[in-house]
Amino acid sequence: MRWLYGRRVGRWCSLCFSRKISYGGPAQGRPQLFTTPIFYVNAAPHLGHVYSAVLADTLHRYTALRGGESRLNTGTDEHGIKVQQAAAALGSTPTELCSRVSQQFRTMFDAMGISYTDFVRTTEPRHSRAVCHFWKRLEEQGYIYKGTYQGWYCTSDEAFLSEEQTTESKDPDGNKIRVSVESGHQVHWMSEENYMFRLSSLRPELLKWLQTDPIHPAPFLRIVRKWLEEELPDLSVSRHSSRVSWGIPVPSDPTHTIYVWLDALINYLTVANYPDPAGSPWGPSTHLLGKDILRFHAVYWPAFLLAAGLPPPAKLFVHSHWTCQGVKMSKSLLNVIDPAECIKLYGRDGFRYFLLRNGSPERDCDFNHDAVRMLLKSDLADALGGLLNRSTALNINPEQCWPCFRTTNVPLTSRGQLEDLLGALQGLPQQVDQYMDTFQVHKALEAIDGGVRSSNTFLQRQAPWKLSKGSEEDKAWGQCVLYLTLEALRLYGTLLQPAVPGLAQTILSRLGVGNDDRTLKGNRFFAATRGEECRFRGQKLGLDCGLLYHRLRGQEDPELKKDITQHESGSTFN
Ligand code: ME8
Ligand code: MG
Repeated sequence: MRWLYGRRVGRWCSLCFSRKISYGGPAQGRPQLFTTPIFYVNAAPHLGHVYSAVLADTLHRYTALRGGESRLNTGTDEHGIKVQQAAAALGSTPTELCSRVSQQFRTMFDAMGISYTDFVRTTEPRHSRAVCHFWKRLEEQGYIYKGTYQGWYCTSDEAFLSEEQTTESKDPDGNKIRVSVESGHQVHWMSEENYMFRLSSLRPELLKWLQTDPIHPAPFLRIVRKWLEEELPDLSVSRHSSRVSWGIPVPSDPTHTIYVWLDALINYLTVANYPDPAGSPWGPSTHLLGKDILRFHAVYWPAFLLAAGLPPPAKLFVHSHWTCQGVKMSKSLLNVIDPAECIKLYGRDGFRYFLLRNGSPERDCDFNHDAVRMLLKSDLADALGGLLNRSTALNINPEQCWPCFRTTNVPLTSRGQLEDLLGALQGLPQQVDQYMDTFQVHKALEAIDGGVRSSNTFLQRQAPWKLSKGSEEDKAWGQCVLYLTLEALRLYGTLLQPAVPGLAQTILSRLGVGNDDRTLKGNRFFAATRGEECRFRGQKLGLDCGLLYHRLRGQEDPELKKDITQHESGSTFN
């Protein structure tokens, strides 16, 4: 790729190094801001989009559960040649396509229980106002100049690529084409006079930002560091409007359209009311994104912000991809899983649980329905549902009240087992906290599931249904065992709220836990085992909720069907 630089604007060099910009750091007195990518409207939402949104929603809800103020923003990316072409192919106008598909995303996110605070569309006037203001700031700071861009452009990714980022390939008809190494999408040669952004000048500041450890998980940080060690050419940030008309015109030159990625990234400022200083100012933000758009978020976005004199993002939480039979799920490959279908099959919370528990940020995961059914049956129906049903059943708890726990009622022979159980469970909230802070939601759920399984083992071993038929001491210990099980369930129910809000609510309501007691802030668990007040003792349980999770009907698997029938008649319990 060749770069023919335009007139050099002199002021930028000294500016870059003298400005004081704060990096990352805790959100002091400001709400936490979580964002998802804003999604292209060239096709309907699929499982991958929903995954990003569910992850972001879980972290947002978790922050609130800890007593913090939190915001979650999502939306749709509606400009650019890709959308322009999709509309033309459908014989529709871009405006019509954007409104229709944007609404599909909103409807899907509502169906998934995504509790977004704001949903931004890049075709909204508030957004173009933010983009124009931001552009002018970049201009004033001397970061924009006119130059000639010559190189490859990938419409599918809306990305400018260097020679090394492309490779030769063949189209389905056997014709030679060039494609992006990373995404496999076709690229085209272009040579155009564009407005350019002085990306190359920002390398030192970007490296400094990387030292604040802003990118999780760590392998992605290493990738970005490597990119910054390679050539970092200036970036074309406009296209001639004769080629791309569907976008925001350059404020001072309407013959050019602002590059769709600059336009799109600024959405994160739009939802913070930029440039209006009132409302919720741009503060520490956590962007969730798929690894496909890492370069845009980890190189271009912080560079744009730094150039405009704003702090770079506090955190980038990057996740890998869902594949279908080993191939990345993508609109252009037509191998996508329809989330609406999954909601029908597994329920909103079942589907959320699967995505969060089986998805891993570090590696791609293959989606298949057998894996979903197995996981949901094992974790939700059997382990968690079984624990709730067994410990609240009428035959074991005829009064439907919280029993009493007294340390003096723990027999010597059972102390060891009790200590093991408490050892496993008392650290759980801190463990979950750490996992959530470092973007390991799957590990948080794994830890909770581990707790559920220890509780089941404990209940099974102690068998309170037998103890209730024994001596007075046995009966008193039986009550303690039940108390500990309910208390453990209260802990799981509380911790699970961000991931599976509906199921968690069912658990907490069945336990009779009031709304004010459902937060993590100031909530203490197992206090009675430390000789403190036995909370909830004598308090009524809530109404019987039936089976906690039973959305696995109508599946093809006859084995599973048999199990479900057993569940429904209650015979797998006790
Ligand atoms: O890139 N697995 O939008 P997009 C997991 N508009 N996540 C996936 C996925 C998969 N197979 N496929 C997509 C854009 N995603 C730009 C973003 S942001 C300022 C602009 C998710 O519609 C993942 O989050 O192509 C990925 O980064 C995003 O959808 C890309 O969505
Ligand atoms: Mg994409």
